[in-house]
Amino acid sequence: MDYKQLNIDDISFFKETIGADYVLSDNQSILNYSHDETEDLSYPPEVVLKPLTSEEISKILKYCNLKNIPVTPCGARTGLSGGSLPIFGGVALSLERLKSIIEIDERNLQATVQPGVINQVFRDAVESKGLFYPPDPASKGSCSLGGNLAENAGGPKALKYGVTKDYVLNLEVVLPTGEIFWTGANVLKNATGYDLTSLIIGSEGTLGIITTIVFRLIPLPTKDITLFVPFSSVEKACEAVSAVFRAGITPSALEFIERDAIDWTLKYTDIKIQINDDVKAHLLLEVDGNDIDILYKDCERIFEVMEIFECGEILLADSESQKNQIWKIRRSVGEAVKSNSVYKEEDTVVPRAELAKLLKGVKAIGIEYGFQSVCYGHAGDGNLHINIIKGEMSDEDWNAKLTLGIREIFELTKSLGGTLSGEHGIGLVQKEYMDIVFSKEALCLQKGIKNLFDPNEILNPGKILL
Ligand code: LAC
Ligand code: ZN
Repeated sequence: MDYKQLNIDDISFFKETIGADYVLSDNQSILNYSHDETEDLSYPPEVVLKPLTSEEISKILKYCNLKNIPVTPCGARTGLSGGSLPIFGGVALSLERLKSIIEIDERNLQATVQPGVINQVFRDAVESKGLFYPPDPASKGSCSLGGNLAENAGGPKALKYGVTKDYVLNLEVVLPTGEIFWTGANVLKNATGYDLTSLIIGSEGTLGIITTIVFRLIPLPTKDITLFVPFSSVEKACEAVSAVFRAGITPSALEFIERDAIDWTLKYTDIKIQINDDVKAHLLLEVDGNDIDILYKDCERIFEVMEIFECGEILLADSESQKNQIWKIRRSVGEAVKSNSVYKEEDTVVPRAELAKLLKGVKAIGIEYGFQSVCYGHAGDGNLHINIIKGEMSDEDWNAKLTLGIREIFELTKSLGGTLSGEHGIGLVQKEYMDIVFSKEALCLQKGIKNLFDPNEILNPGKILL
């Protein structure tokens, strides 16, 4: 696509519209908004805009649509698929000043918020009222709710409670052409027309800009227990995952961590924990509810299942400090693994009983192409994060072989009934693989939807679809 370069008149328009203090083009701002948390990618915008209201956003979009200026929305820039990278320059449109929790409606168990609110700030606010907003991405301390919606983020608790879209009732959205509209209604059931709310969620800022979110909430479970279970066989650990559900238990989290991932995390953090040499993987399980005796019974049942799969000695964490330590390990894995080397991160997802086959296949593909991989993730959801590590691989091999290896991993994922991304999105870095999971017709429909919302392709262009 050919887009217009910004000139002095464009900058004057932005300054008049949102105030000069919120129109940034100094080197540091351009650098900050040129990247998210996706690998080492960097695409500088020409200007960073920080509007405050839907009306200001509408004016900016109308103007950019008319002038053919690309606009890339961004939140806290913690994304892992390059969704908020301004790859054609133009405007980086930050939603960070829209950060108010407008209302927590305790009568209806709903909340109305703006997209710039940080996930943890929101969960703390609702928890103080005995309410629960379950979606808990690893970056919950720094990611914004708007970004969570854009990527339909998950996290460990998605297993029992569902992902971001399961908590969204209604959205105020600004279209690339400037119109402002609501997608649905603030109701728990809605069979009224096409589901525009679901269409916007997970659309990675390519269809419209979310400016207000109405969430549903649930009562906060008051008790939980965490189990940390070592295995000397990775395959057995994977097989134990689906057996837990078959035994009638739905844990509130069931995570998988490969040995390398733990070792790298212990090196990266100050956490001290003893792990026997023969341990190849851990499962981390959590059960939650309101009756601690029932939770201990669930744990007994889980112990029985784990023993069938020849686990090692299980650590039962029921004190806050033990639980925090184990969860700190899990939440640090991503950063720890990536701090070591150039890497490429995948977010594959398969039906949960196929996890062992996926993992085995990924290792075999690694041997074929000469790369190491470190795997961990939300095993209960069949969602495996695969970090492909460059390590000692030559630049030449890395550049030539990587996409072939990744294609093979995704083809395996598809053959197991799975797909490319469970929670990180497609963004920039996975779009070349969409043909693996969608037919030409399905891709054509998706392009048609994009075209309907954004006829001039000014909103987050170059994402999701080739
Ligand atoms: C995690 C992020 C990377 O699960 O999704 O740690
Ligand atoms: Zn994850």
